[in-house]
Amino acid sequence: MRTPLLLLHGFPMDARMWRPLVERFQHERVVVTPNAADLLMGDGPPTIERMAKTAVETLESTAPGAPAVVVGLSMGGYVALEIARRFPDRVAGLVLADTRATADTEDGKAARNAMIEAVRAEGVMAGTRPLREKLLAPNASERVIRAVNEIIEEQDPDAVVACLEAMRDRADTTNVLKAFAAPVLVVRGTDDALIAAQVAEETARLPANGRLETIRRAGHVPPMEYPFGFNAALTDFLRGLAG
Ligand code: MLT
Repeated sequence: MRTPLLLLHGFPMDARMWRPLVERFQHERVVVTPNAADLLMGDGPPTIERMAKTAVETLESTAPGAPAVVVGLSMGGYVALEIARRFPDRVAGLVLADTRATADTEDGKAARNAMIEAVRAEGVMAGTRPLREKLLAPNASERVIRAVNEIIEEQDPDAVVACLEAMRDRADTTNVLKAFAAPVLVVRGTDDALIAAQVAEETARLPANGRLETIRRAGHVPPMEYPFGFNAALTDFLRGLAG
């Protein structure tokens, strides 16, 4: 069996973010695309750890026993790194797109709390505006802007708040990445306003077997903004794994 893909989407979206990638890969391998809202269902505080555990359970129910290439974009990258910490045997390779291994700073946590209040008071679209304004490259097409907004508009405010709490409280995973032995591809859109080039470069240098690929003209969401480039980078990575 070819190596399955576990795709973990960014905030404040859902698994529809991966549609172009699913269309490209679903005929050749198992592709598992959980929604963050589902990963956080059930009792207990919302945490990235819980998302990681439920994501691996979801993978296990679809492709039992098979290590997967775990692809995480931004918030999904936080979950992917937590999977690498807790379930390294389930990870054949990591693709970390437009994300970071460091935890939130104190200012970052304060911004999360402000956004939590804003989402509760004003709803998802208005509450996440400061982030939404930075998601896409300045030259993003109307079609991509519409597709992203359609997804965000449909998110449940309680799930959005839960994701914000989980991201605010997440642990640093720098040491996880330093100790990680399997191949790691770090991807960044050249116009990403949320993850600086230097952050992506440093992230790619942490693991023993890491490299960085940039996606030209894309912002923070390359799989939607420039799917051809993102899919080509992933195809190349998968070929390197021979799976
Ligand atoms: C995302 O795209 O998932 C978010 O930018 C992550 C974050 O806010 O840290």
